[in-house]
Order: sequence, then structure tokens, then C-alpha cells
Amino acid sequence: MSAIPVHRDQGAMPELLLVVNRISKRFGGLQALSDVSFGICKGDIYGLIGPNGAGKTTLFNVLTSLYQPEMGTANFMGHQLTRLKPHEIAQVGIARTFQNIRLFANLSAIENVMIGRHVRTRAGVLGAVLRNRATLEEERAIEQRAYELLEYVGIADRANDIARSLSYGDQRRLEIARALATEPTLLALDEPAAGMNPSETVVLRQLIEKIRNDGVTVLLIEHDMKLVMGLCNRVLVLEYGRVLAEGKPSEVQRDPRVIEAYLGKGAAGQAGAAVAAPASDIAARQSTGASHSNQGRHDS
Ligand SMILES: Nc1ncnc2c1ncn2[C@@H]1O[C@H](COP(=O)(O)OP(=O)(O)OP(=O)(O)O)[C@@H](O)[C@H]1O
Ligand SMILES: [Mg+2]
Repeated sequence: MSAIPVHRDQGAMPELLLVVNRISKRFGGLQALSDVSFGICKGDIYGLIGPNGAGKTTLFNVLTSLYQPEMGTANFMGHQLTRLKPHEIAQVGIARTFQNIRLFANLSAIENVMIGRHVRTRAGVLGAVLRNRATLEEERAIEQRAYELLEYVGIADRANDIARSLSYGDQRRLEIARALATEPTLLALDEPAAGMNPSETVVLRQLIEKIRNDGVTVLLIEHDMKLVMGLCNRVLVLEYGRVLAEGKPSEVQRDPRVIEAYLGKGAAGQAGAAVAAPASDIAARQSTGASHSNQGRHDS
């Protein structure tokens, strides 16, 4: 991974990386996503929040081609994601982790990362099976890089331990290392703090900031509001598959509709929340450079 931080001129036009336009997804009689539109800019830590069942993971699954939407498009750096096969998603520069951890439980931590790395190698998975000389050399380089990634996420001391023997927090960090092995431009994390204790969450927050500072844009689903509001420069709120609000964390957390969705009817009035206009207009972001004005600062 490049150690060069993303160039973030305060006045510069933010570069749109992902434009999601009117995505809808239905499961039988259930409308899981309705007309969802938003944009992610290079350098964002973009939060995706909403109550249980709001459609957050479904949106990840649509963006990574696990599900086909009935309607809408998702343009990622010129690629129409909805036309790609799931295995092509990593090749265009998107990697993800899963809400329910998906590791090879009986392989070591380093082997799990090496598997992630194979999408970026010439030999590929088939070469790894055939094992000629060039492949073996490449394999050594892959192992070295996998070790560096384990160091990067802070679990190099567990490199040779079987994945299932790792603590929950370490398994989540291992999933991040495996995702980073594909050298993504956009890293999508589905509830990375789930099951972590407060001190693990602090370390995770530092890791996500480091990843962004090293040039990887982050899309983050998370229920830990302190983490989301402190870390993200932009937040999208889903409720029943619809966009409820979109904007800076400071705007979103004051939005009465958001307060109501989380705390129930009447809560917005009790909280004395000021109405803040959700700034969902991508064009407005481009003209103001708003997405990067909050980098590194915390709105909570
Ligand atoms: N493969 C599927 N088949 C049928 N229904 C599904 C499927 N995947 C998701 N759903 C339904 O779609 C809705 C949205 O689910 P989703 O998992 O996207 O929510 P979420 O916002 O990620 O929730 P959580 O915070 O609990 O993870 C839910 O009602 C869920 O039951
Ligand atoms: Mg989910």
C-alpha cells in the first residue's frame, strides 16, 4: 500500500469515486432498497447508518455484485458495478469485509491474507496450485506482503495462528488485512467494530484513519454512533431501504427524522434538535468542496 497520503487541498474539487443512482432492490414482497442515490468522493470515510434491517448490508451486496438490483446504477471510476461479476469487483478496486466474518477458519491468519492477494498476481489461484518456479518466487513475495499487511493491522504476532483461534476483534482486523491485500481504491467495512470492546474500538478507529490517510477511501457501516460521528466526514442514513438523510455528521445527528428513526416518535422534540437541511446533492458537494473540509476533524 502506498504511504503517500491522499492530496486534500481544502479548495480542490473533490473527485467522485462512486456514484450510486436510484438503486432499488426487492426480496419477494420486501422492498429492501428504494431509490437510493449518493456519491462517495476520494478520501472520504463515508458512513452508512440506519436501524436494523434498513438495507445497509443489502446495499453493500448490490455494490459488490452479490445481488442484482431491479433498478439503478452504480458507477465506480467508469465501471458500471451492476454489470460486473462478483469476482470482477476486486479487480476494479473495491474490497469489503462481511458483517458475519467470512474467514477460512482452519487456515492460518497469513494464509487468509495470501488468498486475498492472489487477485493481484500474475499466477493467480491456478498458479498457486501448480507451483512452478516463477510461481514459488511470486508466492514468497505474496507471503512477505501478507506479513506486512498483518503488521499494518496490528496482528503480525498471530500470523501463524489458525484464524478461528483469534479473538473476535483480531478476526475483524484479519478480514481488513485480507481486503487490503487486493489493493483496493475503496474499502467497504460492514460493522467492523461489532463484538469489539472499547479499547479494541479505539485501535480500530486509528486503523481506519490510517487506511484513509494512506490513500484508500472507506465506506463504513457501523452501529457505534460515537465511532461513526467521530470518524466519518459524510454520513448516509437509511431507513426501510430509503435515504432518510445525507450530510456531514453534525448535520445528520441533529436531523429530527434521524433522531426519530433511532429513538422513536417525539424524541426529536425532546432532544431539542435543530432542523438541518440534509445536503444530499452531489453537485453541491462538488461546488463547495464540502466533502474534504471536515477531514481529520471530528463532528461529535
Ligand atoms: N437474501 C435475502 N433474502 C430475503 N430478504 C433479505 C435478504 N437479505 C436481506 N433481506 C432483508 O432485507 C432487509 C434489509 O436487510 P439488511 O441485511 O440489508 O439490513 P441491515 O441494514 O444491514 O441491518 P443490520 O443492521 O441488522 O445488519 C431486511 O428486512 C432483511 O431481512
Ligand atoms: Mg447489515
